[in-house]
Amino acid sequence: TWSAVPAGPPDPILGVTEAFKADKDSRKINLGVGAYRDEHGKPYVLSSVKKAEESLTAAQPDKEYLPITGLPGFTQNAAKLAYGAESKPLVENSIAVTQSISGTGALRIGGAFLGRFYPHAKAIYLPVPSWGNHTPIFRDSGLENAPEKSIVLLHACAHNPTGVDPTQEQWREISDILKEKKLFPFFDMAYQGFASGSTSRDAFAVRHFVSEGHQIALSQSFAKNMGLYGERVGAFSLTTVDPEEKARVDSQLKIVIRPMYSNPPVHGARIANTILSSPELYAQWESEVKGMADRIISMREKLYDTLVGLQTPGQWGHIKSQIGMFSFTGLTQPQTKALADKAHIYMTADGRISMAGLNSSNIEYFAESVSKAVKG
Ligand code: LMR
Repeated sequence: TWSAVPAGPPDPILGVTEAFKADKDSRKINLGVGAYRDEHGKPYVLSSVKKAEESLTAAQPDKEYLPITGLPGFTQNAAKLAYGAESKPLVENSIAVTQSISGTGALRIGGAFLGRFYPHAKAIYLPVPSWGNHTPIFRDSGLENAPEKSIVLLHACAHNPTGVDPTQEQWREISDILKEKKLFPFFDMAYQGFASGSTSRDAFAVRHFVSEGHQIALSQSFAKNMGLYGERVGAFSLTTVDPEEKARVDSQLKIVIRPMYSNPPVHGARIANTILSSPELYAQWESEVKGMADRIISMREKLYDTLVGLQTPGQWGHIKSQIGMFSFTGLTQPQTKALADKAHIYMTADGRISMAGLNSSNIEYFAESVSKAVKG
C-alpha cells in the first residue's frame, strides 16, 4: 500500500536534535533547536511554573474538555500580555482570541482562517530568511507567495533565525508602508521577553501597529518565555472592529479548529493562566525571563571575546549585537557540516546557533572548534 511513499528529508531544525541524540561523543553540543538550557546545559523549569503547578495539584482540577477556543481566562490574559491592558481593542472587547497548540498551532489556525476568509489575494510574504517551519505551515494553509495585496508575516521580536530586529523607528516606518500599501500584518511573537528581557518592551511592534489602527493577526507562544515547550501553550488572535464582528470571527475560529484537533490541551494553559493572573507569580516569571535573556547575553560576550582572542578570521561583532535566542553566525554549510562531523557540534545548516545551548563548560570548546573550522 505504501510502496510509492518516498522517504522525506529530516526536519531542518528538529532533525538536528535527532542527529545530536545519535552521536555518542561526550563533547557533543546541540545548538540546533531553540530551547533554553541552564548554565549546566540542562532543560530549565521556571520556579514560577513549578509554583503554579503546585497550586494546581493542590486544587485538583478535573480533566474535562476545554471549549474549542481553550481556557477563557488564559486567552484573555494572553491577549493582555501581548496587546497591553490599555489596548483599545482589548478594552472594547473586539479581539477574537483562541488558545492554540503553541506557536506553530497558532500560525496554522491563522493560516487556515486567512486562507478561508481573507477577502484579498491568498498570498503571504515571508521574511528571507525566516523560521524554517513558516514556509510549510503557510503552504499547507493554502497561502502562496505572490506579488501584491498580500499578508505580510512579521517576527514581532527576536527574529528567528537572524536575531536582528527593526528599531522602534524602523517599526514605525514599516507600519506606515503597510498602511499605504494596504497590506495585512500577521505577527509571529514566539519570543516575547527574550529580546530585551522585558515582555512589554518586546510587544512594542504589536502595540504600535494596533495603536496606528491596523487590523492584525497575532500568534503567541509560551514555549520559550515560560519554558512550556512540550505543554504546547499558545494563542492566536485577530483584532476586529467591534464586539459584533468579533463574535462572528470567534464563531468561525471554532469551525476552523474543531476538525483540526477538536479542543486544546488543558494543563499548560492552566499553568500559564495561574502565572498571568497572580501578581506575585507574574513578577517572579518576569524576572526569570530576564534571567534567561541575561544569561544568553553573557554567553554572547564570552563567545565574541573567545573568537577574537583566538584570532578567528572575520568580523564577529554581530554575535554581540544580535538579540534573542539565536545567533546567525555566518558559518557556511560546509563549515557547519565539518563542525558536526569533526567536533560533534550540531546547528542548523544555515549557520544559526541557539545561544542557550552554550554555557561556561562548553563555550571554549565551541569557540575553538569554530575557529578551526573557519581557518579551514
Ligand atoms: C526553533 O526555531 O528552533 C524553535 O522555534 C523550535 C521549532 O519548533 O522549530
